[in-house]
Amino acid sequence: MRDTALPPPPEEELPHLWQKPAYEVLFARLKKLRVEPRVWTLHDSRTDILKEQAVTAHDRREIVSFLSSIIKSSLAWLDSDDERELVWEEASKRMSERCGRTAMGEITRRWPFEDHGYGAFSLAIREPPLTGDSLGLKTWGSSYALAQLLHEFAAGPLAHLFVPGPLSTPQEVLELGSGTGLLGLAAACIWKTSVVLTDLPTIIPNLAHNASLNQEVVDGQGGRAEVAPLTWGGGREDIDSMFWELNRYQLIIVADPLYDDDHPALLSSAVHEQLALNSDARALVMVPQRDETTKGLLRTLREELARGASPLLCLEESIVNGQDDWGDENDDDEMRHVGFWWGIFGRDQSGAS
Ligand SMILES: C[S@@+](CC[C@H](N)C(=O)[O-])C[C@H]1O[C@@H](n2cnc3c(N)ncnc32)[C@H](O)[C@@H]1O
Repeated sequence: MRDTALPPPPEEELPHLWQKPAYEVLFARLKKLRVEPRVWTLHDSRTDILKEQAVTAHDRREIVSFLSSIIKSSLAWLDSDDERELVWEEASKRMSERCGRTAMGEITRRWPFEDHGYGAFSLAIREPPLTGDSLGLKTWGSSYALAQLLHEFAAGPLAHLFVPGPLSTPQEVLELGSGTGLLGLAAACIWKTSVVLTDLPTIIPNLAHNASLNQEVVDGQGGRAEVAPLTWGGGREDIDSMFWELNRYQLIIVADPLYDDDHPALLSSAVHEQLALNSDARALVMVPQRDETTKGLLRTLREELARGASPLLCLEESIVNGQDDWGDENDDDEMRHVGFWWGIFGRDQSGAS
């Protein structure tokens, strides 16, 4: 046979059980099949990642069938029960890594940050397979767009909350609708402060996972991140007891919170309940201008915030351009250019005596 017809290198092949591979060969191969968390860079769109996963799905099927043949086999040719137990155990671990959260569809993306003001760091953010309408399991473009503006805000329209000095940095920042946590974790790193990241109870396990995944980075940057459930308009069972004492936070941040008709009123009620009542307190909100619907929801949010005994008015606003991969996963034109509106709200003091 000619050289060109040689099979792939043996170390890439899965051993055949009918060849009765030695314990060392089987065990070493099983170790190599370990699923490591997959990390992509910011520039990989979700579509590209999922396409790549589809290509590797074939290999995955072959591996799953190899693992299941080991689990079903008596491994009678191995020397001892101990060896058999170790091989079965390792094969079962590899199998379960391919069935749960690490199954196809999950991605982890690494988001870089760099500025001469705070240096360079990156955050690894896991997005589990999307299920139903759990939009909080995906990282949305505005969270990255807003995160990149945080440093400027601390030197500009929010500077009164960041006057240099040990007690000046807001003692705790509250994020509403954190989703996968990119914005809140970035805020902890960039502002070197303590941030409480919140969302619906169903979103909390992944959010908590991402907080612990990045704990070293956050600690290293001098920040702190905590995760707790807070449902806008929810009952006590949906809101952690740490939020029962109202109007505690000097600064609230929110990215991309509006996608249902009831969101403006619900979000407004949560901001009114949690934001401190003094004139320094601020709520920083970003809403992508995707279409007329989102623009209409933003108009309603402004109206809702301006209601009540202590109305919140928009003190400063602008629009920045960015990208948002919010489209259908099968849509080739998934990355869209969107204007991200941001606004900073504060208490209307005009009626104060
Ligand atoms: C479009 S996602 C944005 C997530 C994240 N801020 C980002 O930009 O990547 C909207 C978020 O609001 C959360 N959310 C929706 N309704 C909520 C409610 N009533 N209470 C708390 N969070 C809610 C969702 O779970 C989701 O995480």
